[in-house]
Amino acid sequence: MNFQLRSLSIAHEWVRQAVSEGDTVIDATVGNGHDTLFLAKLVGSEGSVIGFDVQEEALKQTGYILEGGDQDYQKRVQLHLKCHSHIAEFSDLQISAGMFNLGYLPSSDKTIITKKDTSLLALDACLDRLKLQGIITIVCYPGHDGGEDETLAVENWAQSLDSVKFSVIKAIPFNVRSRAPYLIGVQKKK
Ligand SMILES: C[S@@+](CC[C@H](N)C(=O)[O-])C[C@H]1O[C@@H](n2cnc3c(N)ncnc32)[C@H](O)[C@@H]1O
Repeated sequence: MNFQLRSLSIAHEWVRQAVSEGDTVIDATVGNGHDTLFLAKLVGSEGSVIGFDVQEEALKQTGYILEGGDQDYQKRVQLHLKCHSHIAEFSDLQISAGMFNLGYLPSSDKTIITKKDTSLLALDACLDRLKLQGIITIVCYPGHDGGEDETLAVENWAQSLDSVKFSVIKAIPFNVRSRAPYLIGVQKKK
């Protein structure tokens, strides 16, 4: 068993429950490609993963990870060197999951971070395309410069969602420093 009680592992477990083979899913912050590869395995050879990142370095690294996998994962993944707010341009999409791992690319330029205005546009676009029982996971990082502002905006967005249509859960580490990363999950129930 590889499960750990951490935001990223919990996000993966929630997404695993919501996604079936053949589905379309979104990785809104591709980064080093760990979530992209996870999603590519989940959707199977008939499914598709649409990924976004603003840094070429991130997409390159993700390309290597996908290439090194035990199957032809690249065929089921479309990578876009674009801000995730462009999700709004994918009009016919129906997704069963959207993963957001906010903040900056680890071991890289810490000033290139996700920002509240575009993150909220991307979250709304995912919400509009979410299937029944589909899930959006958001790992928030309040600890870096600019992170708290974005985290607050995401919290307000999540808290304002209609409880008849969406279940919203905040999973927050309890015995650590106050600005540790944490997870928000949104599931469409109606
Ligand atoms: C914490 S990392 C993501 C980690 C990744 N999910 C993984 O599994 O390795 C956050 C990423 O968001 C990217 N990013 C920043 N602003 C963005 C935007 N507007 N649209 C899409 N990606 C963005 C950064 O370049 C960085 O690679």
